[in-house]
Amino acid sequence: MQSKSGQWNNNLAFLLAATGSAVGLGNIWGFPYKAGENGGGLFVLLYIFFVIVLGLPVFMAEVFIGKVGKGNPVGAVEALAKKTKSSRNWNLVAYSGILASLIIAGYYAVIAGLVINYGFIAAAGFVGTDPGVVYAQEISSFWEMTFWFSIFLIGSGIVVGFGIEKGIESAMRILLPLLFVLVILMVGYGAVRGDMPAALDYLFSWKADQFNPGTVQAAVGQAFFSLSIGMGTLMAFGSYMPKSQQVSKSSVIVVTADTGVALFAGLAIFPLVFFFALDPTAGTELVFKTMTTAFAEMGLFGQFIGPLFYFLLAVAAFSSMISILEPSVVFVSEKFNFSRFKSSMCIVVICFFLSLISVAGFNVLKDASIGALDNPFEAMKYLADDFLLLLVGTGISLFVGHRLQNVITAEATGISNTFLLKLWVIVLKYISPISLMIIWVLGNAQVLFGVNLLDYILI
Ligand code: TRP
Repeated sequence: MQSKSGQWNNNLAFLLAATGSAVGLGNIWGFPYKAGENGGGLFVLLYIFFVIVLGLPVFMAEVFIGKVGKGNPVGAVEALAKKTKSSRNWNLVAYSGILASLIIAGYYAVIAGLVINYGFIAAAGFVGTDPGVVYAQEISSFWEMTFWFSIFLIGSGIVVGFGIEKGIESAMRILLPLLFVLVILMVGYGAVRGDMPAALDYLFSWKADQFNPGTVQAAVGQAFFSLSIGMGTLMAFGSYMPKSQQVSKSSVIVVTADTGVALFAGLAIFPLVFFFALDPTAGTELVFKTMTTAFAEMGLFGQFIGPLFYFLLAVAAFSSMISILEPSVVFVSEKFNFSRFKSSMCIVVICFFLSLISVAGFNVLKDASIGALDNPFEAMKYLADDFLLLLVGTGISLFVGHRLQNVITAEATGISNTFLLKLWVIVLKYISPISLMIIWVLGNAQVLFGVNLLDYILI
C-alpha cells in the first residue's frame, strides 16, 4: 500500500485505508446505541446534517493538512505552520489529537475484545439463552475481558509495528464489501422478521421536543468519531496520498460509504429492537443483545451467520484500530527515532493500561462515577468522542481556514469550482469553529453539570 517513498501507489489505497478506518465499531455498535439513547429521530437527522455540513469539510481539512504537510501529524502541522509563518503552537492541535487517539484506543480495544468473545459464543449458538444473561456474564469478569482486549490490542500493535499495510489493503478489498453485504442482509432480515415500520418511524421522524444541547453534541461527536476526524488518522493517511489524488473527491466517497453503513446498521438493528420489545435506550449493550436475540431465533442458520457477523465486525474494528494507532506510532518513531516496531510496542503498553481502566468500568468499577459520567469507561468515551474530538476539529478548521490560505489551491484540494472552494474556506474559517464551540460549551454544560444553558438564552 505504501511504497518506499512514503506514498501510496494508487488512488484506491487511500480510499480503502480511509474507509477501513472510518467503518468500524462506531458504525455498527456506536451509531445504533447512541441513536437509541438519544431517542432516535432527531439525533439521526442531526447526525446526517452534521456529517454533511461539518463532517465533510473538516474531514477534507484534516486530509489536506496531511497531504501538503507530510510526515507525522505533529510534524505536518509544524511544517505548515513554519511555511506560513504561523505560531509553532498550532502543534497543540496535533498533540491533542494524539491524546484523543490513545484514549480512544483504550476503550475501543475493549469493545473489540467483547466482539471477538461473542464470535466464539455465537459459534456455540445462542438458542435457548437469554441475551441479557449472556451479556451480564461476559462483562462480569475483569480478567476475561482483559484477555480478549489484549489479543486485539497486541494483534493490532504488531500489524502497525511491521507496517504491513499491504496485507491490510488486500484484506480490506474482500472484507469491506463482505461486511456491506452482510449488513444489507441483516437489514433484509429485520424487514422480514422484525418491525421495520416502527424502526423507520423511530429513526427518521422529526422529534423537535428532544432538542437539547446534549443531543446535538452527541450527534456531532458521533459524526466526527465515525468519520475518524480529529486525532491525526486522516493526516497520516493524507500524507501518503499521491499528489494527483483529489482530496475532495476521495473524501466524498469515504464519507458517503461510512454514513451509509451506519444508517444500514440502524435499519438492521432497530426492527429487532421493536419486534422483541428490547429497550432502545439500553446503551452500549444494545447491539450485543439485539444481535444475540436474532441469531438465536435463526436457529442453525444463526450459528453460521452469527460468527460471520462478529468476525466481520472484528475485522472492521481491526482496520479502524490500526488507523487509531498509526498517528501516535509514527509520531513516537519520528520524534524519538525509534524503529516502527519499538514505537508501536510503547504505544501498545500505554493503551494496555488505559484499556484496563475502561474494562474496570464494566465490572470492578462499574459504579465508580466520575462527576456526571457513569463509570470510567463512559468517562473515557465522553472525554475522547465528545470533548476532545470537537476541540481538535475546531483547531483543524481554524488552522486550515485562517493560516493556510496561501497553500490552498484548486490543484491541492481537487476543488476546481471557485465558488465551492470559497465556500469550503468560509465554512472552515467561521461556520465550523463557531458552531463547534457553541455546541461544545452548551453540550458540556448539560452533560457534565446538568445545566441547559438554552433555557437561559431562549426564555
Ligand atoms: N471511525 C472509526 C469507527 O467508526 C473509529 C476511528 C478510527 C476513529 N480512527 C479514528 C475515531 C480517528 C476518531 C478518530 O469505528
